[in-house]
Amino acid sequence: MKHNLAEIEARILHEISEASTNDELERVRIKYLGKKGEISALLKHIGNLSPEQRPELGAAVNTLRNKVTHRIAQRKDELDTQALEESLRRDTIDVSLPGEVFEVGGLHPLTKSLREIISILSSMGFTVYESREAETDEMNFVKLNVPHGHPARDMQETFYLTDNALMRTHTSPGQIRGMLAMDGRLPVRFIVPGRVYRRDQTDASHHPVFHQVEGLAIHVDVTVKQLRGVISALMNRFFGQEVTVRLRPSYFPFTEPSCEVDISCVFCKGDGCSVCGGSGYLEVAGAGMVHPQVLRNGGYDPDEVSGFAFGFGLDRLAMLKHGIDDIRLLYGNDKRFLSQFRGI
Ligand code: PHE
Repeated sequence: MKHNLAEIEARILHEISEASTNDELERVRIKYLGKKGEISALLKHIGNLSPEQRPELGAAVNTLRNKVTHRIAQRKDELDTQALEESLRRDTIDVSLPGEVFEVGGLHPLTKSLREIISILSSMGFTVYESREAETDEMNFVKLNVPHGHPARDMQETFYLTDNALMRTHTSPGQIRGMLAMDGRLPVRFIVPGRVYRRDQTDASHHPVFHQVEGLAIHVDVTVKQLRGVISALMNRFFGQEVTVRLRPSYFPFTEPSCEVDISCVFCKGDGCSVCGGSGYLEVAGAGMVHPQVLRNGGYDPDEVSGFAFGFGLDRLAMLKHGIDDIRLLYGNDKRFLSQFRGI
């Protein structure tokens, strides 16, 4: 029997060494160590032996089983290492091949300008209120003192979605929605940036979609002086200290008094050039003191509080800042144009 075991051991170890894949090795394992395997059969056989014979043979078969188990694990390591080395040899990487080129993107000049304006105005306590682009006629016009049939609608008729819904023509309806969201609390100090839509002709300075940054401040005793202060600080920080601000009387139905905001021309510094049409000034916003009825429409009592509002043309600001002479460039998605702003 002992002699037999040595022979069996030699045969098994030989078969293990001969196994050249993990599958083959597994077959060998099952053949000997599996439930119906030869070694398992030997172990069972021991049960039939006489008590004197049992210990010696039992120990021998156990030793054999341990040896085989150990050798199979060892062979598996060898095969794995071989397979790895082979795949490394096969899957070589040619490091001299040209790599894939990933273009570096950048922020759009409008996004950059808006972020700058938000950062300046937030340092003065303004938060950002994001209103909606599709508006009701009520919010876009009526609540801003522009009833049906009012002549101010002519300048701003836009894209109607239904009889009562339209793409907003300005960010001013955000004044009403923002006020209502404040629920009568003070102070009110927020801006409403975003896209607006007008059925304009398209040329170097007009586009049916453009951007505004609305501003609204309400508190007890808010004055024109504060409006001027905030606008001047914004313009000076955005364009530079040499820029001066002029408020020119104007008319908007939702402010009283109303004005246009002009800045000294950033190109000729006020001497007069082709960009400013010789006037030395550039119009950048509409503004004014919030009309009492608009305050009421937003849930505020005009006898107790006052406010100012402004609406900047963001595209205009970005164009002046970067010397862009055609608004259509901002909407053309031409990488030759956009890539110029990557690093700025
Ligand atoms: N909503 C006006 C426009 O689009 C601008 C404006 C905003 C004027 C706020 C006064 C106050 O022309």
